[in-house]
Amino acid sequence: MIKLRVEGTKPIQRTLKFFFHVYIILSALYTLGYIYRMYTNNDDLISIQPRNEPVPEISSAKWGQDKISWDSNSGIYDSMTEEFFLSKVFSESMQPSHVIPYYFRADDPPKEEDITITTLITSDRFLIFNKLVTNYQGPISVTIHVSDNEETRDELLKSLNDLYNSNPYMKKYVDVHLVVDRFERQFNMWRNVAKFFARTNYVMMLDVDFHPCTNFRQKILRSPRIMKMLRTGNTALVIPAFEYANLKEGLNSSTFPTNKKDALKLIDSKRLAMFHASWKPGHGSSNYDAWHRSNVLYKVTQYQFQYEPYVIFPKNSIWCDERFVGYGANKAACLFELYLSGVNYWVLPEDFLIHQTHEYLESARKHERLFNRKLYDQFREELCFRYARNFILIDEWDTPKSRNLKEVCHKIRGFTQAINFFRESIS
Ligand SMILES: *[C@@H]1O[C@H](CO)[C@@H](O)[C@H](O)[C@H]1NC(C)=O
Repeated sequence: MIKLRVEGTKPIQRTLKFFFHVYIILSALYTLGYIYRMYTNNDDLISIQPRNEPVPEISSAKWGQDKISWDSNSGIYDSMTEEFFLSKVFSESMQPSHVIPYYFRADDPPKEEDITITTLITSDRFLIFNKLVTNYQGPISVTIHVSDNEETRDELLKSLNDLYNSNPYMKKYVDVHLVVDRFERQFNMWRNVAKFFARTNYVMMLDVDFHPCTNFRQKILRSPRIMKMLRTGNTALVIPAFEYANLKEGLNSSTFPTNKKDALKLIDSKRLAMFHASWKPGHGSSNYDAWHRSNVLYKVTQYQFQYEPYVIFPKNSIWCDERFVGYGANKAACLFELYLSGVNYWVLPEDFLIHQTHEYLESARKHERLFNRKLYDQFREELCFRYARNFILIDEWDTPKSRNLKEVCHKIRGFTQAINFFRESIS
């Protein structure tokens, strides 16, 4: 409840009151105009069925017109359409894009203190996703991109429907969210959708083709020490990723090792190696030599901005920057911001993932990588300044929370000078 109190002499009070009333009237007019437009301009709304109920037939319905409302006393604006609400939630993404949350929703509500795998799939990854669901047997929040094209859309939804109904673990554990638009590969937006609608306090950002070889979920949930670290909000747990030297060995996950001892044997005989060993920066910071030797949780001490491990971290944390569209730097950008925001990476010593071999479509990727590399260079600078300023203004500059930022950002030319100047100017 907001109370407006105006103090002072009468004429000023009257003037203020007058402006206040004008403001209320203008707001009301604006809102009415908005609602009018929402209801008269339905042409470009997406029409897809079923929500919650797996209905075999996909017929049309009006999406995004459910009302979201707040129990608010302010009385000015307490209700809006879901479509409008979500357009702001994902406002950094390309538009128009229609987000359809919980197209399917798991029957069992998960416990808050659990770990939801958040992932993204396109229709060509349905089978591997099905394996992941059966293997994980825990909450999963998945974003599925649907091209806004009537023919392929219906076909995709039909096979999604078949998939969801073919595996009982889907109904038990999996929430499916759709993004319907004309933009391929808005990976970071899709990641945000999966995380936004995850129903647990912790999420694991995973690519669907990685096979979790161990039951890290139960191990983490049963460890009071690790849970305490997660709850504190400054911890992300890294599960190291591997791949077979002979890609053929990576085809059948039921032949993969299921404990560290067996994995080490394969590593020693060079059959198994860190994922993308030819691109060291991607996973090197996990320090695979240390993993080899360690049986305790250890901290990542050699962070660099290209690091893109698979991590478990609190849902209540940074969002992936949606301006990264297409290949290159998109996941690294999420993890950079997570690190900068004061979250430290810790590697789980007994758990690991193995990449399942599939064909890469390399052709259209080059220009996207180039584009995103440019974007990422500017993004890091922008973020350094934004977070530094933020930490200073909320008195967290001299706390451990800003340690990661200081370590990463001091390399930027002029950064230290600018920050010192800023601190002086506000002291
Ligand atoms: C995968 O490996 C298992 C165990 O060796 C075997 O039973 C199964 O037939 C294999 N699956 C495929 C598709 O090759």
